[in-house]
Amino acid sequence: MAGRGRGRFITVEGLEGAGKTTCLATIEAVLRAAGEPEPLFTREPGGTPFGEALRGVLLDPQYQGMTAEAEALTVFAARAEHLARVVRPTLEAGRWVVSDRFTDATYAYQGGGRGLGDARVAELEAWVHAGFSPDRTLLLDVEPGVGRARIAARDADADRFERERDAFFRAARAAYHRRAAAEPERFRIVDANRPEADVAAQVRAKIEALLGARSET
Ligand SMILES: Nc1ncnc2c1ncn2[C@@H]1O[C@H](COP(=O)(O)OP(=O)(O)O)[C@@H](O)[C@H]1O
Ligand SMILES: [Mg+2]
Repeated sequence: MAGRGRGRFITVEGLEGAGKTTCLATIEAVLRAAGEPEPLFTREPGGTPFGEALRGVLLDPQYQGMTAEAEALTVFAARAEHLARVVRPTLEAGRWVVSDRFTDATYAYQGGGRGLGDARVAELEAWVHAGFSPDRTLLLDVEPGVGRARIAARDADADRFERERDAFFRAARAAYHRRAAAEPERFRIVDANRPEADVAAQVRAKIEALLGARSET
């Protein structure tokens, strides 16, 4: 539709096994039912050919012990490409974009899990996308042990992050909680420890509320 302006940017965050990828189908169903034209579903790290190649490097267990700095820079290199080639042009065309992870994950995993700290991540964020952030972020909040049990059932081989210890995931989860507390207007927290149908209902309600808020303005 001409002149409908910029689409909305939704991100989905949470630890391994939180149910991020699973809930995308619910988000898609709600957006399509609301008549949103061709919402784009993408992921980070990834979303472009270059980004997907970097994702392969980041998840590859052969790079165990990669420095936190190299990890954060690689994630942001993929993100710069994703924003320039996919996210921004799609939003500018008026379509909604839903990304399975975004910069909050870097605060959680590299800032919290790896101990790089918020300030270092914030420097890269300012460099790559100053003044740009998601319109809404769903944090699928899960106990590390619950997520781990789901991953163990899902995958034969654990990737480089899935091999991390519980202390890494506790620090990452705490960082996610700090992000959500600092920006309550952007974040919505979903209790992702619950059964799949319950999580889907929570996600549905939060996306419907976002659509409702838009139609009121
Ligand atoms: N609420 C839930 N309860 C139980 N199992 C779930 C739930 N949500 C997802 N799963 C299953 O757990 C695994 C991990 O879910 P997934 O969506 O891939 O998580 P993520 O993308 O956050 O790592 C999948 O096998 C999925 O079918
Ligand atoms: Mg996933």
